[in-house]
Amino acid sequence: MDWPAASSPPALAERTSLGVGGRSERFFEPANEAEAVACLRALHAAHIPWRVLGGGYNLLVGDDTLSGAVVSTRRLVGVEVFPDRVVAAAGHSFPSLVRQGAEWGIAALAGCPGIPGSVGGVVRMNAGGRFGCVGDALMEVRGLEADGTPFTRRVEAGDLGYRTSIFADRLVLAAAFRRDPAADRVALAALHSEARDWKRATQPLGAASAGCIFRNPSGGGETRSAGRLIDEAGLKGHRIGGAEVSLLHGNFIVNVGGATSRDVHALIDYVRQRVEAIHGIQLALEVEVWQ
Ligand code: EPU
Repeated sequence: MDWPAASSPPALAERTSLGVGGRSERFFEPANEAEAVACLRALHAAHIPWRVLGGGYNLLVGDDTLSGAVVSTRRLVGVEVFPDRVVAAAGHSFPSLVRQGAEWGIAALAGCPGIPGSVGGVVRMNAGGRFGCVGDALMEVRGLEADGTPFTRRVEAGDLGYRTSIFADRLVLAAAFRRDPAADRVALAALHSEARDWKRATQPLGAASAGCIFRNPSGGGETRSAGRLIDEAGLKGHRIGGAEVSLLHGNFIVNVGGATSRDVHALIDYVRQRVEAIHGIQLALEVEVWQ
């Protein structure tokens, strides 16, 4: 593959919030959309599988060299404000969009402070929490199909689910978020502060983690908090190597220093076994695993 020249792959431990992970065989960081198109077309033509790296927040990357290519959206930045919408590029910081969105009147994102990541990443997994989710504000997504063909899609109800979207196997270039011109900016700011303070009090936001590790299990019409199940199983503070179940929220695994991907996987396996033994519930991963 001639284009683009592969830059020397960084250790993915430096590019992920959990701080674990080795290098990929190939690493690309297109500077603009045209380069992103050329990159995916070249990878497709060369039959090289690729994965998208956004802010690196919901990822558990293996310690050994990853086969294929990693395409980073970090340099795809920029945000444009229109009367009815705000369009943000994939690499734009989602927390700053949420902050600015409270002034611009993106009402449905006011409950999303404390959700880290890039715009592309949060769209792809429809990130969210008790005060709202990304999909509530999403109007349109522009991106690339697996072979590099551009698409623009008006978002419909079935496109998004609980921590999932139809954009998972594509590359998001930019997303449009709905503005509500009549939104009460004072009320939005108040909700923003409330959600932020609550998150800070209940989750280890400053620590090296990948966010919630497990999906909240549902069954019999009821959804349970995986964090609570782990807490009730007495697993908070349990440590394997440099990986520890957070003392603040049971569904976070924190890298307390020098954790490897193997440590994290071993802790995940242990937590799953204990929760199944105690609660009879099998936890499924929310975090995306690359290896
Ligand atoms: N709880 C405990 N112990 C714990 C954690 C929680 O007893 O260690 C209790 C809480 O006190 C509360 C209940 O369990 O009564 C629910 O907890 P919380 O409100 O923290 O919500 P959650 O279901 O554990 C979900 C999302 C989070 C999101 C929060 C808040 C999932 C897997 N988790 O957690 O999302 O931030 O709601 O809206 O859906 C993420 O996806 O990365 C994530 C952190």
